[in-house]
Amino acid sequence: MIKAITGTRDTLPTDIPKWNYLQAIVESVFSNFNYKEIRTPIFEETTLFARGIGEATDIVGKEMYTFVDRSGDSITLRPEMTAGVVRAFIEHSLDKKQNLNKLFYVGPMFRQERPQAGRFRQFHQFGAEALGSNDPLLDAEMIIMAYDIFARLGLKNLLVKINSLGIPSSRENYKNILRKYLEPHFEKLSVESKKRFETNILRLFDSKEENDCKIMENAPLLIEYLDEESLEHFEKVKQALLASHIPFEIDARLVRGLDYYTHTTFEVVSGSVGSQSALCGGGRYNLLVKELGGGETPGIGFAAGIERILLACENEKSFSIEDEKLDLFLVTIEKGLENFAYQTAVTFRRKGLTVDLDYLNRSVKAQMREANRTNSKFVLLIGGDEFARGEVVLKNMSNGEQKIFSKGDTEKIFLSIKEN
Ligand code: HAM
Repeated sequence: MIKAITGTRDTLPTDIPKWNYLQAIVESVFSNFNYKEIRTPIFEETTLFARGIGEATDIVGKEMYTFVDRSGDSITLRPEMTAGVVRAFIEHSLDKKQNLNKLFYVGPMFRQERPQAGRFRQFHQFGAEALGSNDPLLDAEMIIMAYDIFARLGLKNLLVKINSLGIPSSRENYKNILRKYLEPHFEKLSVESKKRFETNILRLFDSKEENDCKIMENAPLLIEYLDEESLEHFEKVKQALLASHIPFEIDARLVRGLDYYTHTTFEVVSGSVGSQSALCGGGRYNLLVKELGGGETPGIGFAAGIERILLACENEKSFSIEDEKLDLFLVTIEKGLENFAYQTAVTFRRKGLTVDLDYLNRSVKAQMREANRTNSKFVLLIGGDEFARGEVVLKNMSNGEQKIFSKGDTEKIFLSIKEN
């Protein structure tokens, strides 16, 4: 038997209503904040991600689905959207049309990580990017949107963590201080952390190795070395969050796994989903547009993992969705009336009702069972003495009430169904 590839999942019809419910909330909140949807291709030139996300990151170094296509070009399935959105922003000169572009997206991403609960190789994100302003109110806006979406989904067990990575010069200065602190401990670091010491020293804060953690416990923190401008920016973000009633915590050890961040970074974690607890992550990236060949354009954004969010919703039973109902099920009582039933079904479907009937040559009893299984609000009984008199019977399944109509009077039947 051929099975779905490890780390990928089918979303079956029973799960689709939850996805649609989430998507409707996401679109409504983004629309309230005036974000417009953007769609970019699922694959891009590999260089885009290598340059955008950073060669030294886990995503680029270990996790990308990269292949050479038949023309010999190196292609990568997108591991995230920010690089693609920025590419599209530059390619279509979106900054010429308006000074600030507020964009959102929903779609599949691909990373070859070790699959576990809440971690997949094809997963889905929604997210937003605002390109063209360095206003700290936009940093706060990203966090507010993410939080509002989670709140509207009914999630409670949430923690918003924020940090600032400052401007590059203060970060470079701090990296030297961190390097000096770590040098005497270097031999005790794990193999991975020794590598990161050279390539991406901030990521040492992310190590789960016990020894590394002990060493990092007393490490100097970037936030203590931030310049005036970065501190002021961070302060304004905090004030805006407080004013919008977003509970948050400063996590000076929050370094994100992508290289493009400057100033604010944040994550929202859930206490309801186990170890893969980050429901979303994001931050400011004031150098990325330039890095990818555009002008000097500040940017900020976030992305959230839909599978993880739905897992948190399920664990918290944060919302429930009513079973879908059919408006009408047609029950054919005797042989020879199938065509009439079929044409009647088509007529009601074209009027906008959700209608079904038997395609399996079932008995009347089995057809009634099917009407119940599909939660049909009404059943139209076709056959018997009534049909011989040119009539059909409409049964209201919630109260058992029956009404008789002339068989050609679809408009009256339609109105009677609509009334309920
Ligand atoms: P990220 O932290 O790599 O950031 O991913 C954002 C979210 O996507 C995570 O918090 C998590 O919920 C979900 N996610 C990531 N990897 C997986 C996976 N393997 N399986 C399931 N869910 C996953 C970004 O992608 C940045 N582009 C965010 C951003 C936008 N920063 C600025 N703008």
